Amino acid sequence: MSHFRTLDDLENDLGDVSGKVALVRVDLNLPMADGAATDLTRARAVAPTILELADAGAKVLLLAHFGRPKGERHSTLSTSLVQPSIEGVLGREVMYISEVSGTVVEQSLAILRPGNIGLLENTRFWPGEEANNPDFARAIAANGDFYVNDAFSAAHRAHASTEGLAHLLPAYAGRAMEAELQALNRALGNPEKPVAAVVGGAKVSSKLAVLKHLVARVDHLIIGGGMANTFLAARGVDVGKSLCEHDLTPQAEGIMDAADRAGCTVHLPYDVVVAREFAANPPGLRTCNVHEVAPDEMILDVGPQATEALADVLKTCRTLVWNGPLGAFETPPFEAATVALAQTAAALTSEGSLVTVAGGGDTLAALAQAGVVDRFSYVSTAGGAFLEWMEGRELPGVAALAR
Ligand code: 3PG
Repeated sequence: MSHFRTLDDLENDLGDVSGKVALVRVDLNLPMADGAATDLTRARAVAPTILELADAGAKVLLLAHFGRPKGERHSTLSTSLVQPSIEGVLGREVMYISEVSGTVVEQSLAILRPGNIGLLENTRFWPGEEANNPDFARAIAANGDFYVNDAFSAAHRAHASTEGLAHLLPAYAGRAMEAELQALNRALGNPEKPVAAVVGGAKVSSKLAVLKHLVARVDHLIIGGGMANTFLAARGVDVGKSLCEHDLTPQAEGIMDAADRAGCTVHLPYDVVVAREFAANPPGLRTCNVHEVAPDEMILDVGPQATEALADVLKTCRTLVWNGPLGAFETPPFEAATVALAQTAAALTSEGSLVTVAGGGDTLAALAQAGVVDRFSYVSTAGGAFLEWMEGRELPGVAALAR
């Protein structure tokens, strides 16, 4: 893992931070309903960094994006809307500041005392943010003494507040970023072997790069969800009217060949749960061998025998990285395989025999449904950033810290 500086290096580098201005990039892109945040996980994740810096006497200025306003001010996407959430989580007052640079920020800094916290306006209200414009970044940097990035989930964006600032000020990983990078390194950077990966979700097309990267790195690749159908079809299985990307047969074959060459075992379900319609507990629901799917049936989950076999695979492994559900988990009873395998993984984690790292898209929701989020070694709240990391891509926000 590349070396990056953390809050532990602050005192050595900068001396006492009391009274100094910390520009802290956080991800407060919280899901909202009726003006209130419906999930505070991301706010909770960055709280330790904010409190540590505030308690050390820094004036903490939070930088965050909220939605995708595309370079214009939108009152519905102001960070003032998430201010109550972060105040609630921190249990401290947070001053909303309607700009990200210039005199308004200077005046606010004159009011803030050491240990106080300010929340700057949505960085994406300015076109310079997404363009990573150096003048825009310099204008923000002008009010700070050092920069802390605690937003792994935005680190796949090469924006001024996620990348540009790291080149202009002494730059550090916050505690959440640090934990995330350590967990990811344990999972794929320098893992204990054998390593298994679960990759599920609807479409192969969105995860081709992930699968290509993983076959060379893991010992067992467990493919589930709608994307398994494309692989089954490529192996000559008639998947009926299941979701299936037939045009990706050559790519699926290519991934299976690459896996063979790399000594990676690809696991596809051999029994499946099928129905004639996609609905909760539909009539005609049944479990069958993959070779017995009728032309008017669709595969909606991995079957119980295959799930048990997959549990046995996990028992032989030391590391598991998980992205995406095995079945149509939001509709009962098609969560069964995801829940059962996630619970096996959680039990192996508790026993100390398996390191379990999960993240990306629907994964958090699927693991929450299985009740295992707290029992995995690490569950990332990142979506796109986690996927890009699973593709083996360098994340600009992380690379800038690791200079
Ligand atoms: C997210 O919600 O995944 C992050 O905050 C990144 O948001 P973005 O996809 O709009 O860059």
